[in-house]
Amino acid sequence: MFEEKGEKRNMSKIGVFDSGFGGLSILKEIVKKMPQYSYVYLGDSARAPYGSRSHDAILEFTKQGIDFLFSKGAEIIVLACNSASSQALRYIQQVYLPETYPEKKVLGVIIPTAEVAITKSKNMCIGVLATEATVSAGAFKRELKKLDSTVDVYEIPAPLLVPLIEAGKEDSLKIKRLVKDYVALVSKQPIDTLILGCTHYGIIKEDFISVAEGVTVISEAEIVADKLFTYIEKHADIKSKLSLDADVCFFTTDTTNKFESIGSRFFGSTIISHEINL
Ligand code: DGL
Repeated sequence: MFEEKGEKRNMSKIGVFDSGFGGLSILKEIVKKMPQYSYVYLGDSARAPYGSRSHDAILEFTKQGIDFLFSKGAEIIVLACNSASSQALRYIQQVYLPETYPEKKVLGVIIPTAEVAITKSKNMCIGVLATEATVSAGAFKRELKKLDSTVDVYEIPAPLLVPLIEAGKEDSLKIKRLVKDYVALVSKQPIDTLILGCTHYGIIKEDFISVAEGVTVISEAEIVADKLFTYIEKHADIKSKLSLDADVCFFTTDTTNKFESIGSRFFGSTIISHEINL
């Protein structure tokens, strides 16, 4: 904080962390909802995808990511990555933050999404498509069951979609076939609600809707933006520290060229990034 013409200026930012590009689609909705704030985004693209990595690797990388974002002035961080949220968030909230950053907050994407999904399901039978790391953590099932212990949850890994979406093949026949196959697999159970539990799948939400007949398809970006808005409104201590400079700063662990060309598609407009080492 510094003083300017006798006025206190707030300097804190909202941090958003992802394994790479997918979190940019979440950031896009967050910025749309709250354009007045300052954001700092880190995509660990050099080590993505996280979805096929071990718990220990995801936890270690996520800790490094949040250390970096706090060092850049984040007051609150959203783990936009489902794999990081499901494998690392609990430890970070329960152990790492209290020990290392007792004043700061880290939120994930699983709980907000589960809270909306549970209100949409009528038969309490919910499907989840996500990365292998997210499915193996069972985080969606755990959070949904906390909200309603009678819910049945079917989680299926859908790992083949991420590389195709990053390669810009959203309109390819291959993607459409995979979506159909994954939906058929999860629909072996009588689900009436399907959570797209991976940052990338929201980009092709319409493909899921077109094949998942009679099923409510839930993607995360708007949900996370709405829940973050509500959270900040309820936490005056955080809100009062946030800078109102309306800017976004992007960092990547990979080359900036690659991050900017793929990332701009996810963010929906041109981005300028800085390369860092974690
Ligand atoms: N961001 C990841 C997620 O939502 C998808 C990409 C990856 O596996 O790193 O789980």
